Amino acid sequence: MPPPRKRVGRRPTDDNPATVERASDQHILEQTAETEEEERFAELQVAALFLVGTAMLIFFIVAYFAISIRDNLGQYSNYALGGSLALALFAIGGGFIVWAKKLLPHEKAIQDRHDFHSPEAEEIEAENTFLAGVDDMGLGKHKILRRSLLGALGLFPLPLVIMLRDLGPLPHRSLLRTGWRAGVRLVDLDTRLPIKLGTVEIGGLVTVMPEGFTDVDEDALAPSMLIRFGPGQIMSKKEREWGVADHVVYSKICTHAGCPISLLEQQTHHLLCPCHQSTFDMVNDAKVIFGPAARPLPQLRIGLDSEGYFIAKGPYSQAVGPSFWERR
Ligand code: FES
Repeated sequence: MPPPRKRVGRRPTDDNPATVERASDQHILEQTAETEEEERFAELQVAALFLVGTAMLIFFIVAYFAISIRDNLGQYSNYALGGSLALALFAIGGGFIVWAKKLLPHEKAIQDRHDFHSPEAEEIEAENTFLAGVDDMGLGKHKILRRSLLGALGLFPLPLVIMLRDLGPLPHRSLLRTGWRAGVRLVDLDTRLPIKLGTVEIGGLVTVMPEGFTDVDEDALAPSMLIRFGPGQIMSKKEREWGVADHVVYSKICTHAGCPISLLEQQTHHLLCPCHQSTFDMVNDAKVIFGPAARPLPQLRIGLDSEGYFIAKGPYSQAVGPSFWERR
């Protein structure tokens, strides 16, 4: 193995003689190929890669003129041009990498860190100043001061703890009370009539409420969307099982900040919130695919009653609307 070569460092200057000396001592160049045969082999590898790159570039030029896109061969032309150019770039790039790794000398540079602490004399002076200050306060002499100070400092964290009360009462299960319960029929928000299987068109979306609701503002957590997809469009098994014959129901309240949503894009099955553009994939458990919403829209399990009307099979299984910390 050839001995490591030392790089000649910068000349020491009056400003920083020690650093320059270390730099010149600790820059070491190491040859990567250990023998001449290895070096020759690496050379051949690099040359072979460059030759492949050259061949691919020539192929690109020939293919450009030889494959006519007028004879319906545009697709083959794309494959030939794209493929040859990609291979040419790959081979030339690979050649440079092998060159750098196997033929160029590797440099190791070591630089010591400077000491970060102050001179010892300054540290002792600072320590003495602090101790003199404590002494001047006379805590040892004035017992009453010492005890009252300890009392004040001891109680200091308590107001912070007490202020946690202002976060309000715990919501317990109130966030789950939406007006939906097992057996309640889904009614159209506008007509207030129950909805029968087969009355919603494929791709249709109806805003529904639990039968008997009084006012949308009173039942602000109840608004939901009944959506009918085409056969086989729902990707999620759970979503299919919670629906009926390609009909599914999701909360209409955006999980970001609570805006009502109903902009369903029929081709992509994406539902867009108009407030901050959160987008939900409605054939995939209403997962968030874009925007600030942090969780999917909750799905309501539905079924049919004996007369063929849609009913809820229970309340929402999770809180609807914004995530807890974003509620106003
Ligand atoms: S409220 Fe829907 S994205 Fe903000």
